[in-house]
Amino acid sequence: MSDGAASRAAAVRAVAGVLGPGQTLELTLAAAGAAPGARALSHALAFGALRFGHRLKKVAEGLLARPWESQSAEVQALLLVGLFQLEYGDAPPHAAVSTTVAAARLVGEARAAGMINACLRRFQREREALLAAADRTLGGQSSHPDWLVTALKRDWPAEAWQVLEAGNEHPPLVLRANARQLSTAALAAELAVAGIVTRPVPFAPHALVLERPLDVRELPAFVAGRCSVQDAAAQLAVPLLGARAGERVLDACAAPGGKACQLLEEVPGLAELVALDVDPGRAARIRDNLRRLGLEANVRVGDALDPATLRGERFERILIDAPCSGTGVIRRHPDIKWLRRREDIGPLAARQRQLLDSLWPLLAPGGRLVYVTCSVLKAENAAVVAGFLAATPEAAEVTESASLALPGLPPWPRTAGPGLALLPGVAGTDGFYYACLERCAR
Ligand SMILES: C[S@@+](CC[C@H](N)C(=O)[O-])C[C@H]1O[C@@H](n2cnc3c(N)ncnc32)[C@H](O)[C@@H]1O
Repeated sequence: MSDGAASRAAAVRAVAGVLGPGQTLELTLAAAGAAPGARALSHALAFGALRFGHRLKKVAEGLLARPWESQSAEVQALLLVGLFQLEYGDAPPHAAVSTTVAAARLVGEARAAGMINACLRRFQREREALLAAADRTLGGQSSHPDWLVTALKRDWPAEAWQVLEAGNEHPPLVLRANARQLSTAALAAELAVAGIVTRPVPFAPHALVLERPLDVRELPAFVAGRCSVQDAAAQLAVPLLGARAGERVLDACAAPGGKACQLLEEVPGLAELVALDVDPGRAARIRDNLRRLGLEANVRVGDALDPATLRGERFERILIDAPCSGTGVIRRHPDIKWLRRREDIGPLAARQRQLLDSLWPLLAPGGRLVYVTCSVLKAENAAVVAGFLAATPEAAEVTESASLALPGLPPWPRTAGPGLALLPGVAGTDGFYYACLERCAR
């Protein structure tokens, strides 16, 4: 078995696990069992095939004798991985075709090998016409699912194509300096000595963007807890929360602890940070991160929607980093293009509103609650917050004044509705939404 075929087979298994059973790419890559030497290539192929898969699927539909939906997930994945290499990859075309055909046998699709070979060779001959036909469709032009393109064009008519283009980019690696241990400049200097070029982010003072990706586990500063991985847009939650020493803070959806750890790093002397998450496995990752960074919090496993979980407790600050569609972080997780459906958005918005309704009573008078998502859809953002504000007379929206804590923040698109939306491709970050709400002091 050639190494080339083995890495293609691992990529195909990972992509098929997303397309078929609907598992996340993180899980399917871990299960795909690529040998260490083949891992980097199989990961790159799986990410690329899913990132550009909606365009490549349109191409495949022009090549197949039978409908796409009637093919097994493995055959669909073989076509996406093969076409991705031919259109976007570095391998010589003949090697891309022969290793993908060999991979068909390795993933139990020996009978489809001839058909895969014929499709890939025909793509080489008829590339321009096939791509032109694909690009006449929304999905082909944008490499995103049709429903999401439609929703973005409705929500952000002026910015939609920038957001879609950013969704196809390779994301940068962004670090957060651990403010308890060193300054951002000191971290940049330490990395520079190792030949790693970084640049600062004006509105996120602890962030450093790395020009070239690397495996963070090989970085001594990461292993020793001097830095963490966190996009610049995610680093805005802590300054917007505005917590001060002596206050009790609830992070209600805390795992894996990115924002909780940032809060502890940047605001020493809190009375207590309760870091709650409903998922025990994910809550364990909060503990791992606290340990690596030398921090302490009250980590609890529990459902924020269950009134018994936090009964009788009071907090001066509450962070709700709500579960959401993840449509703001598609460049990091291209499987979201395949896993998320239009029908998911209504139930997500209902749960987000429930989280606001359930946790608001725990906020002390004069306290602040920050609602966050990594979605770019108004249904999960401004619409949820506007509905909550309309039903909650003692809640005041203070996002605009809270954002004064973020000098250098690029102007964000102002449309009707509360909150601050950072859009990928516009702000140069992942897509995040923030709304700061204060409880009128009585
Ligand atoms: C967007 S993630 C949070 C990311 C985290 N704040 C960070 O910065 O690393 C959302 C989290 O909410 C948790 N979650 C979802 N529903 C919940 C609930 N009802 N109660 C508590 N946690 C919940 C999920 O398990 C998930 O870990």
